Amino acid sequence: EKGGYASFMLKEIAEQPKAVTDTLLGRIDGSGSLTLDEVRIPANVLREVDKVVIVACGTAFHAGLIAKYAIEHWTRIPCEVELASEFRYRDPILDQQTLVIAVSQSGETMDTLMALRHAREQGARVLAICNTNGSTIPRESDAVLYTHAGPEVAVASTKAFLTQLVACYLVALYLGQVRGTKWADEIRAVVRDLSSISGAVERVLGTMEPVRELARSLAGKDTVLFLGRHVGYPVALEGALKLKELAYMHAEGFAAGELKHGPIALIEDDVPVVVVVPSPRGRSVLRDKIVSNIQEIRARGARTIVVAEEGDEAVVPYADHLIRIPATPTLLQPLVATVPLQVFACELATARGNEVDQPRNLAKSVTVE
Ligand code: M6R
Repeated sequence: EKGGYASFMLKEIAEQPKAVTDTLLGRIDGSGSLTLDEVRIPANVLREVDKVVIVACGTAFHAGLIAKYAIEHWTRIPCEVELASEFRYRDPILDQQTLVIAVSQSGETMDTLMALRHAREQGARVLAICNTNGSTIPRESDAVLYTHAGPEVAVASTKAFLTQLVACYLVALYLGQVRGTKWADEIRAVVRDLSSISGAVERVLGTMEPVRELARSLAGKDTVLFLGRHVGYPVALEGALKLKELAYMHAEGFAAGELKHGPIALIEDDVPVVVVVPSPRGRSVLRDKIVSNIQEIRARGARTIVVAEEGDEAVVPYADHLIRIPATPTLLQPLVATVPLQVFACELATARGNEVDQPRNLAKSVTVE
């Protein structure tokens, strides 16, 4: 069943290149246009959308945080992302022009379901991004985009996350295409880049031995911190969540720009800090700022574990450990940057003697509020 892997989690991590390919399958035509006919919300309705609200929990929420950057950039529609458990209790402002996107692997998460019911009662349209055919969340939504990742058995979400990201990018690009923004050329280029992303994920998976070794060497630590900026910030949150749920360690993700507003006080001798470095192309200002952050925390004793694009040499002098990822367009970087953090958490948990497929106290789908 595990196909020769020691755990379902390892198997599902390895399945990611195929999973992202399957999410794209049949959704891009020969001319590079998106054909999301299954999103049955008519184009004229999508053109009227004036706000997007994403609701989700856990890892799916992190996919939503990343989607916000893509949606706002490619469509210029304001986008909010909210934990499903918080959403309906604060009387959110919703109407017929609001597109609510409910992201859920299982399609059964009670908080997400209650959030979408609330949204529909207020007249909003709901699009589900879901991995489980025929589950409750897609059945109760106006439309669904299935992620086609295949069954995810391990409690920790891995391939579902990558495919949720791909589905979110598809929705963002599709909204951009339908509405015709000034980014038409960029949208076409990104569609091309998405088509080759599976190979990039495969390459990352082929270089994970040093990451596993590093993880094993940190098994005795109490704390691991994660820093990121822009789309790397939700990646940092996701890396920390994986480590909490699998290794039962204190792990926290921070926006690197917040360091000086508090978290830097946590830095002490030899505390491991994983830093996700933005692409030096596109957002070079952010890359430079994060390089200063790495210097600052290293000067205070942190052990820096730097996740950076191939060819980015500026980080080398400050990296105690360097994890290379292939160059991608800025917004797509989470698809490759998250993978080493999944492998890291899985290996560290195993080194601590934990059962990675069934972490303590957790269920695969949370069907109570
Ligand atoms: O099935 P869903 O995507 O709605 O589940 C949401 C969360 O419960 C889930 O992502 C959870 O955080 C994972 N265990 C994280 O690995």
